[in-house]
Amino acid sequence: MWISRISGLGAQAVKRLTQGKFVCMPKAPYLNVSSSRVQTLLQLPPQVHRYLCNTATDSCNDKNEVEQTISVTFVETDGTQKHAKVPVGTSMLEAALSNDIELEGACEGSCACSTCHLIVMDVDYYNKLLDPTDEENDMLDLAFGLTETSRLGCQIEAKPEIDGIRLALPGAT
Ligand code: FES
Repeated sequence: MWISRISGLGAQAVKRLTQGKFVCMPKAPYLNVSSSRVQTLLQLPPQVHRYLCNTATDSCNDKNEVEQTISVTFVETDGTQKHAKVPVGTSMLEAALSNDIELEGACEGSCACSTCHLIVMDVDYYNKLLDPTDEENDMLDLAFGLTETSRLGCQIEAKPEIDGIRLALPGAT
């Protein structure tokens, strides 16, 4: 199965090369792997791999291979600061849990509790977040120690605009 898919992919690449067309394959659609992985699987020399990429679109380069992260600082109730590198697209609840921050997340991110309550420490960052949904506001109303910049951690998604955000854990949940 793998072999035939790889063969098919290789045949497709060779066909396009012989037609004089370059093709960008940041992700191989059948395999869901990166072009570098395809290069490895097909044992393509680097110069051939380069021809598989269309530099005009600049969408096939090493940047695609590196997971983009942002810096997030969690400030615990005793003032301890914990710095984390958080992949873009990750929720702050997931980020907290994977960095041993004591954030509960009782409903596991389904916006049905307020135990992932976090306080955005800088209003500039708060303003860069998407507005809370009605469901989030309903849950925030139940949160202990609600502030003007309170949000639910499971509803804040890491994105480049909030690189450097600081989030405080409330005194209690
Ligand atoms: Fe329950 Fe975020 S984990 S609302």
